[in-house]
Amino acid sequence: MSTDRLSSMSKEVKPESVELCPLGTAAAPEQELLCIFGTGDLGRSLGQRLLQTGYRVVYGSRRPHSCGPLPKGAQVMSHAAAAQSASLVFMCVHRVHYNFLEMLAPHLRGKVLVDVSNNLKKNLYQEANAEYLQRLVPGSHVVKGFNTLSAWTLQNGPSDANRQVYLCGNSAEAKQAVAEMATKLGFSVLDRGSLSAARELEDFPLQLFPEWRLPLKLAFGLTTFFFFYLLIRDIIYAYVEQKKDISFRIMVSLANKVFPIVSLTMLSLCYLPGIIAAILQLYRGTKYRRFPDWLDRWMLCRKQLGLLALGFAFLHVLYTLIIPIRYYVRFKISASTISQIKENKTKEFDPTTAWRTDSYYAVGILGFGLYVLLGISSLPSVSNALSWREFSFIQSKLGYVTLFFCTFHTYLYGWDKFLRPSSYKWYTPPGYMLSLVVPSALLVLKLLLLVPCVDRSLTRIRQGWERTQPDDDNKTALLT
Ligand SMILES: Cc1cc2nc3c(=O)[nH]c(=O)nc-3n(C[C@H](O)[C@H](O)[C@H](O)COP(=O)(O)OP(=O)(O)OC[C@H]3O[C@@H](n4cnc5c(N)ncnc54)[C@H](O)[C@@H]3O)c2cc1C
Ligand SMILES: NC(=O)c1ccc[n+]([C@@H]2O[C@H](COP(=O)([O-])OP(=O)(O)OC[C@H]3O[C@@H](n4cnc5c(N)ncnc54)[C@H](OP(=O)(O)O)[C@@H]3O)[C@@H](O)[C@H]2O)c1
Ligand code: HEM
Repeated sequence: MSTDRLSSMSKEVKPESVELCPLGTAAAPEQELLCIFGTGDLGRSLGQRLLQTGYRVVYGSRRPHSCGPLPKGAQVMSHAAAAQSASLVFMCVHRVHYNFLEMLAPHLRGKVLVDVSNNLKKNLYQEANAEYLQRLVPGSHVVKGFNTLSAWTLQNGPSDANRQVYLCGNSAEAKQAVAEMATKLGFSVLDRGSLSAARELEDFPLQLFPEWRLPLKLAFGLTTFFFFYLLIRDIIYAYVEQKKDISFRIMVSLANKVFPIVSLTMLSLCYLPGIIAAILQLYRGTKYRRFPDWLDRWMLCRKQLGLLALGFAFLHVLYTLIIPIRYYVRFKISASTISQIKENKTKEFDPTTAWRTDSYYAVGILGFGLYVLLGISSLPSVSNALSWREFSFIQSKLGYVTLFFCTFHTYLYGWDKFLRPSSYKWYTPPGYMLSLVVPSALLVLKLLLLVPCVDRSLTRIRQGWERTQPDDDNKTALLT
């Protein structure tokens, strides 16, 4: 093959081909330059992360010659000079100091400004920090973001718990530029819309487990109520009426009543809003009208209610496991054996008691097994691997089976105790009876909703059918 032919082949450029250069001879791609105003904690961590990812960083500072130690490779200049050199500027300065930006407005015209600021309290200012920044520098494109991350997270890189960056802003291009940069840093981006969402983003870091608050309050309230109810009925009653001090029972016996009762009540409170929602939808004949706020809030915290309920069930099972090794129980068993020997009498084996106890243990174990399954399926790694139908089958259908088993376990435990007048100390019903009220009512209502004609109507409504068509509403409105 001639040398001419070879050289012409090498010059031929195929569309999908990649030009290869010997190592060290290729021109390095120009690294993008980003600007950070403020050399404080967040500014330094962010700069370090950006440099590690391959960006060039320039800081804008009040004291370019005397600011503290900065990440290796970063430059530092006056605010005006730094702003001019980059098209994207991070505002790592507290809101109270933003007024200096007004003078810099001409230098910041057309630039993307990322507002990372947070406040110490909710509703501290009338206007969100990002909206205030946009007002100070009207010619710029403000994007709110990164404020939900700590300086520590930025320094160490995203972890599973802190991987999300929320963004909002009025310019789609500006948001796109910030989103691409955040993705390069390893974060996943969630777009929350226009700059009017900034206040919501600024409130995020001030919230402490907001969705757990109501379930925790409920758990605390129920535990306190049942603790004192049972303390009065079991311990104080024995002390006052029988002059017996059985206060030691607070530690295990009383706890092992309070925990399962709270667990069963909370489990039924997970499913009660679904029933109320179904009744409302049937009554209104449409699914398109909003639920009342209290029902919405209740629906939204069902996962947390369920997980807390599972926690109480775990405690009940652990307390139950230690029953055989308790001093009080071993003492009672040996005392009963000795008295039988002394009296030379053997207690008859009672098959009904054997059936009853074995049955309530067995049903309790089945209920607990399903309970745990519900808990496992709510782990994000598991629920992400399930289709919506599979998840809803476990949570809704198996959830009702769980509730049924746990309720049945409690009925079997109670057996005929409700017939004995001695059960109603000081005219109060035993705790287990109270715990059966909500789940029993719920299961009856669920059965009613499963009656074919009711179920058919509800399914149609949930598929979008409406009893009153919107046209009818318009006609009525016109007539009135
Ligand atoms: C241990 C444990 C863990 C749990 N984990 C979770 C969890 O991870 N996530 C979770 O959400 N819950 C969780 N729960 C709570 C509970 O299991 C679920 O909320 C369950 O789906 C409730 O079932 P439901 O049949 O009452 O209601 P749903 O499944 O909500 O509803 C029943 C039907 O109503 C429809 N429907 C519901 N809401 C509406 C609506 N607004 N408009 C129209 N139709 C509607 C549904 O499509 C469905 O067909 C958990 C509970 C426990 C005990
Ligand atoms: N720290 C975090 O974990 C974190 C997390 C999320 C959001 N944020 C937000 O990030 C911003 C910065 O927080 P930070 O923790 O880095 O604060 P910081 O450590 O106090 O640093 C703020 C920087 O702002 C500059 N500055 C101070 N007074 C100024 C003034 N009068 N005029 C102009 N610039 C001034 C200073 O830099 P120069 O001296 O170089 O000018 C200072 O280093 C805040 O809005 C905060 O809400 C912080
Ligand atoms: C491994 C599974 C379970 C076992 C072995 C078990 C066992 C028991 C035992 C031994 C008792 C009697 C306690 C006593 O004498 O005070 C009891 C009571 C009770 N259990 Fe369970 N249980 C199990 C799971 C559950 C679950 C999942 C629930 C549902 C939340 C539940 C709800 C109750 C209730 C409400 C009582 C009555 C408490 C009282 O008033 O004394 N149990 N269970």
